[in-house]
Amino acid sequence: MDNALSIFFITCIIIIAVLMKTTRFRLPNEPPLETAWIPWLGHALTFRRDPVAFLQAMCSKNGDVFTVRLAGRYVTFVMDPLVYESILAQEPNYLNYDLVAADFLKRLFDVTLPPGYSHADKAHMNMRYFTGRGLAKLEDHMVTNLRLIIQEYPNSAEESGSGWTNVELFKFCYEILLRTGFLTLFCPEMLDCVEVDNKMDLRRQSSEVCNLFFHLDKILPDILLGTLSYREKVQVHRLKSDIQALLQQNLGSSWIEDQVEPLAVDVEQQQRMRLALFWASQGNLGPTAFWITLYLLQDRNALCAVKFELSAATHAEDGAAIINVLHNTPVLDSAIEETLRLVAAPFLSRNVVKDLWVKRYKMADLLFRKGDRLVLFPFLSPQHDPEVHDYPHTFKYDRFLRPDGSRRTEFYKRGQRLHLGSLPWGSGNNACVAKVYATSTIKTFLFFLLTKFDVELIDPGASPPGFDSHRCGLGVMQPQHGVNVRFRCIAQERV
Ligand code: HEM
Repeated sequence: MDNALSIFFITCIIIIAVLMKTTRFRLPNEPPLETAWIPWLGHALTFRRDPVAFLQAMCSKNGDVFTVRLAGRYVTFVMDPLVYESILAQEPNYLNYDLVAADFLKRLFDVTLPPGYSHADKAHMNMRYFTGRGLAKLEDHMVTNLRLIIQEYPNSAEESGSGWTNVELFKFCYEILLRTGFLTLFCPEMLDCVEVDNKMDLRRQSSEVCNLFFHLDKILPDILLGTLSYREKVQVHRLKSDIQALLQQNLGSSWIEDQVEPLAVDVEQQQRMRLALFWASQGNLGPTAFWITLYLLQDRNALCAVKFELSAATHAEDGAAIINVLHNTPVLDSAIEETLRLVAAPFLSRNVVKDLWVKRYKMADLLFRKGDRLVLFPFLSPQHDPEVHDYPHTFKYDRFLRPDGSRRTEFYKRGQRLHLGSLPWGSGNNACVAKVYATSTIKTFLFFLLTKFDVELIDPGASPPGFDSHRCGLGVMQPQHGVNVRFRCIAQERV
């Protein structure tokens, strides 16, 4: 009996010790802590099911900053745009992006970064490619490739004799931009400079890489969540190897090669990093092109205003001249910004390396705890926040345009001016390196599509599809279902 009692007491003491070690208590000034009954997992299952709905529910209960446990990690979500700027400006010894990026690269692409690898060190090199002359060269390359790729698509229509081709818009946009991205970033020569045999080969490769990438892209959220079955893991491994093999055949762009250079000791790691960069550079472009094309086709006024601006580039002689005109299109700039406001849903994540105090306007200061992960989610606020944007779920192409044609930047929350009404590119030191290049690519795509082709929705009255919330946090949202359009060459226009 005595023995049984001692075992009982020892077990109780162990349980209490484990609970004290694993249970967390909220400290003064820390964000509200949302407790969960399932140890370790916490709210992971509900979160995975529908992140946007989960975060909205948590916001209604706790306010716009709170901490939850997700699969062993305490994550503080911040949806108060008034503190974004001071958070994103923090030094890496307080809030660290490299640790998050390394974790992401490992989980999605099996890349192990070498010790001391820092994204901040690459800023100078990125500037060389994405500003000034480097950017002009890249844009010229992109215009040539995009023109040649988009030319391929109406062929089937001419053969059928009807003049019109029916396509599913999401696949159509994503495919054209992926193939262009592959040729621009991974192949050294422009498509119009290579010999005929090589030209066919490159076109075939761009198609092949695109088909494989679609399969991988679909399954990426499950890879990230670690919910793949054994069979799926084998399939993903094969897909990645096949794409990697295609990406290393031409070894063109020095931007890609400069990025993988620090991993030079390990060829396998370099191949994986090329795939990661292919995804980083292409994963958002096609979906953005889809949404803006759809929103424009559904809004006659927006479409007319954008077409009018684009028509100024129709007499441009070459790529540089087209880009020159496209750099000065305030209405289209606003329409792109508005599209991204509606559809860009990245998680801007940092690891809290030291306890961090952040001031809050007219509210108590916030304390973020060392060891936690901090995630800003601008999709909910400011982007879809009715206090910041009127009719936040409606596409208003001129929302970011002042009457004098300049960019509108006045947006308010709790009476305070916000510096940014939308953060699709991130912000601070780790914002997207290729914002200008990406914007030029979307504009060039729209230029060719809307000035050289007639494009119509098959069902103009249908509402736009909902978002596939499964992909929330990864960047630009993808549609839940496809949208059919038809298009044909405008008789007198040559692409
Ligand atoms: C519509 C298109 C695009 C959108 C909305 C977008 C958005 C973003 C966002 C939100 C981030 C993360 C910022 C953070 O975590 O703080 C990012 C990072 C990045 N983007 Fe983009 N991006 C786009 C296109 C591109 C293109 C075309 C390229 C390359 C040619 C590119 C290259 C990168 C790279 C390399 C990073 C990682 C930066 C780093 O690790 O420091 N992106 N982008």
